Amino acid sequence: MKITKAVIPAAGFGTRFLPATKAVPKEMLPIIDKPTIQYIAEEAIRAGITDMLIITSRGKDAIVNHFDKAFELEAILERDGKEELLKAVREVSDRLDVHFIRQREQKGLGHAVLCAKSFIGSEPFAVMLGDDVVDSDEPCIGQLMNEFDKCGSTVLGVQKVGAEHVSKYGIVDCERVDGKLYKVNGMVEKPKPEDAPSDIAVLGRYVLTPGIFKCLEKTPRGAGGEIQLTDGIVMLGETEDIYAYDFDGRRYDIGSKQGFLQATVDFALKRGDLKSEFAEYICKTADKIRG
Ligand code: UTP
Repeated sequence: MKITKAVIPAAGFGTRFLPATKAVPKEMLPIIDKPTIQYIAEEAIRAGITDMLIITSRGKDAIVNHFDKAFELEAILERDGKEELLKAVREVSDRLDVHFIRQREQKGLGHAVLCAKSFIGSEPFAVMLGDDVVDSDEPCIGQLMNEFDKCGSTVLGVQKVGAEHVSKYGIVDCERVDGKLYKVNGMVEKPKPEDAPSDIAVLGRYVLTPGIFKCLEKTPRGAGGEIQLTDGIVMLGETEDIYAYDFDGRRYDIGSKQGFLQATVDFALKRGDLKSEFAEYICKTADKIRG
């Protein structure tokens, strides 16, 4: 079955980025001149997604406004012949139907995904976390969708993170099936390094079957007192096969300061209009740091 819908959970508080996120949703913080959520929308478009549901919460109206039509602004840009800017402003809304729903209480990622139940219905669907940006030639979610086409079951996007980082992620207990595809036998949310079944972490991209909703409805609060998507997937694994795919690409956790800074630098160094001057600045700064 073809996947056309993506769910973007973006209702979290973003406490790691306070005070910036007191009034501005972290998904709206720009990497150079584009809000992070737009990079995610562009990845979805490249993978063939046609409908995107963003899970928002109180104080996140800037996200809704970003994907809305800006009549006045567009009229002015049109009048002034600013074609490039007009294209930039319209880019996503012209190519993707964007829908919104509010998670009224932030009970966790699993609960945020459950809010998409009636929008999704009985189809498999993509989940792309609002604060994970992946830079790759082939869109990360598209890679998982291709694997789903082959195995017809839930596929989690994973990469090795190193033992010292396992306590930040959902970690899978898995065995290799073929190349970069693994069969998942179990999963633990944010384990201590000594309890982690591996150092292979789920990194913000999923293709899920609709069976997940029944599981999430029964999932009790887990790590951090939140309804964890990881726990829902473990329950789903009791009746369906779960796979993990080691995707190609560099993933940035934009919700962390380091991830945000690294994405800003790397993306700037890839931009034709910024690269040479910025690279020179970075080299000079590196020389200063080295003394
Ligand atoms: P995070 O824990 O990384 O996001 O959740 P957060 O809670 O916003 O960030 P910090 O830790 O306070 O800085 C992972 C993803 O799940 C979403 C977040 O928006 C993020 O995309 N989420 C989390 C929800 O949509 N609802 C929730 O109740 C919790």
